[in-house]
Amino acid sequence: PINERVELLLKEMTLEEKVGQMNQYNGFWDVTGPAPKGGSAELKYEHLRKGWVGSMLTVRGVKEVRAVQKIAVEETRLGIPLIIGFDVIHGYKTLSPIPLAEAASWDLEAIQKSAAIAADEASASGINWTFGPNMDISQDARWGRVMEGAGEDPYLGSKVAVARVKGFQGKDLAATNTIAACAKHFAAYGFAESGRDYNTVDMSNSKLFNSVLPPFHAAVDAGVRTLMNSFNILNGVPATGNVFLQRDILKGKWGFDGFVVSDWASIREMIPHGFAKDGNEAALKAVVAGSDMDMESHLYIKELVKLVESGKVKESLVDDAVRRILKVKFELGLFDDPYKYCDEKREKNVIGNKANHEGVLDMAKKSIVLLKNDKNLLPLKKSGQKIALIGALANDKNSPLGSWRIAAEDNTAVSVLEGMQQYKDNQLTFEKGAELVISKQAFKDELVFNTTDKSGFEAAKKVAKNADVVVMVLGEIGFQSGEGRSRTNLDLPGLQQELLEGIYKVNPNVVLVLNNGRPLALPWAAEHIPAIVEAWHLGTQAGNAVAQVLYGDYNPSGKLPMSFPRNVGQVPIYYNNYNTGRPNNSDTNVFWSHYMDSEKTPLYPFGFGLSYTTFDYKNLKINKAAFAKGDPVVVSVDITNSGNYDGKEVAQLYIQDVAASLARPVKELKGFELVSLKKGETKTVQFALTEKELGFYDNDGNYLVEPGTFKVMVGGSSDKSLESSFELK
Ligand code: IFM
Repeated sequence: PINERVELLLKEMTLEEKVGQMNQYNGFWDVTGPAPKGGSAELKYEHLRKGWVGSMLTVRGVKEVRAVQKIAVEETRLGIPLIIGFDVIHGYKTLSPIPLAEAASWDLEAIQKSAAIAADEASASGINWTFGPNMDISQDARWGRVMEGAGEDPYLGSKVAVARVKGFQGKDLAATNTIAACAKHFAAYGFAESGRDYNTVDMSNSKLFNSVLPPFHAAVDAGVRTLMNSFNILNGVPATGNVFLQRDILKGKWGFDGFVVSDWASIREMIPHGFAKDGNEAALKAVVAGSDMDMESHLYIKELVKLVESGKVKESLVDDAVRRILKVKFELGLFDDPYKYCDEKREKNVIGNKANHEGVLDMAKKSIVLLKNDKNLLPLKKSGQKIALIGALANDKNSPLGSWRIAAEDNTAVSVLEGMQQYKDNQLTFEKGAELVISKQAFKDELVFNTTDKSGFEAAKKVAKNADVVVMVLGEIGFQSGEGRSRTNLDLPGLQQELLEGIYKVNPNVVLVLNNGRPLALPWAAEHIPAIVEAWHLGTQAGNAVAQVLYGDYNPSGKLPMSFPRNVGQVPIYYNNYNTGRPNNSDTNVFWSHYMDSEKTPLYPFGFGLSYTTFDYKNLKINKAAFAKGDPVVVSVDITNSGNYDGKEVAQLYIQDVAASLARPVKELKGFELVSLKKGETKTVQFALTEKELGFYDNDGNYLVEPGTFKVMVGGSSDKSLESSFELK
């Protein structure tokens, strides 16, 4: 019946009203105040009243949403409700870890729950559509938006994408606590040249099909209702005007029946890209390519009626877009009750409630990755220890909230200092050591770091000297990653490296807690510092999560979803690389694929992460030596918890298609299991490999499963595994 209701409504709509549905405006005026006068606010307001606006973004709060919805429903001829979009990226007000950190948990159930909490809070605030999840695969830590995705791997990325879509959309899109998801950015945005945001992307189709598109395809199969296209050009064609991506693959091959929203002004940006000579041509190319809704280019509303009337654009293209948009609105239940997300009581009860805080704390603990723990410095003893806590970030209640947190209030994170203060039986002393950022304007691009004022060094050294263990919280501030925040250095900004080395000199028992939105290159720390904990930007409950891990109340089990380089020169660096013809130093020291001044391996590889206990892998078995096409391959391995703590391990399975019609990577993740093991316990873990895992896409997008030898590698990291092989006939 939804399709019938859509058709009935479509028949009643004028061309202007149809184009209006394809127009999305950012709501920046006080929607509950008097009608705006002058400028673009007045224009938008007038358009809204005429029924020329189908969606608004960034309007939030029940009162505000009700006010705009009321205009759409009561003042326009057809009373079509608005769909209200918002960037709910890692929580709404109660924040989860940044998405990259969540991916480090490899815990799909927890990730799904985290998205469900975000949906619960956002929907309670009147929102019914999130611009997430971001599923941009990226191999480049310089790109600031790696914090929003699930890392470098398309297999893990696909699983995480599906978990997030399910979490946001739930089982019933029409329920009041679920929201429509948006798979973004379609496509290849994460491969911006030199990691500079919005930059050019040029790649083979095979790489596009094998590395970039799988998460999007998985999200579409999981029923994601919308996609957002991306700012970049792909092989010369902007994603927004890309017929191949949007019409041929997404809406053609994959049969996607939701709608595509442009990214902010990305239709207009086709002009500076050199793909459209003016706004008229940009609108034409975008609609032909299948961009259904115009976010803030103002070009559909300006040009599309003219384009149809002049015969340059067929009205059927407009109808197709409008059908898709209306369909999602019907599915959300907005036509049955446009105010269904506008419930003050729910808003008050849901946002920031206890259960949500507990949920994000659980996710935060699961996202932490233990990178090094020499001398078993961790966990800390719970009493009788003198602990020095050092670093400006240790006492920061803002930075752990990370980037993309529009609805969260500033300074609402639990700091590491506050988290550690919960453990009262130790003597804890805090010293900043040095200010990190001088300019406090979070949204300003040019963050000014302190590079001169070392006046706090001496006090920090004094407490460090006097302590049994020093915990140093160092890294990036929350707004150093995210959109538009690319870096050419992956080091510790400001004076932090100098402070770290200075403290280490007076007391080498240092636990380094990293805060960052991307992989950092920290070779000195990796060599000298005995314990390193990757704590990302963990959201509202960050400090509690870190403290519980440091004190051993939670045994870390995270694994890196992106390779950590030794230096920027290695970037892009990723585990599923190709072998080259000269992978090893066999008979010469020069003519093989390597660097003269650095190892070629990463500092910490994809899939790597330690625990307070240890896990041994034994008895890797494959059920047969040879398989006919279509036979399931069953791989099993025994994993033993051989250490002194109960713990969880992410067992990972990689394959290599040894010789194929297109060279295949040295290894590709094709399965993982999160296994809980009590101290001393052994479990047998099984993986199944089907055609879905064994094949690959060629440059024409054909999926091929080719006979030959396949290597199978199973272990607790991409660089350490048991190995076997089988033949595919
Ligand atoms: O959703 C975002 C997108 O990821 C980047 N540009 C702006 C959009 C809306 O805020």
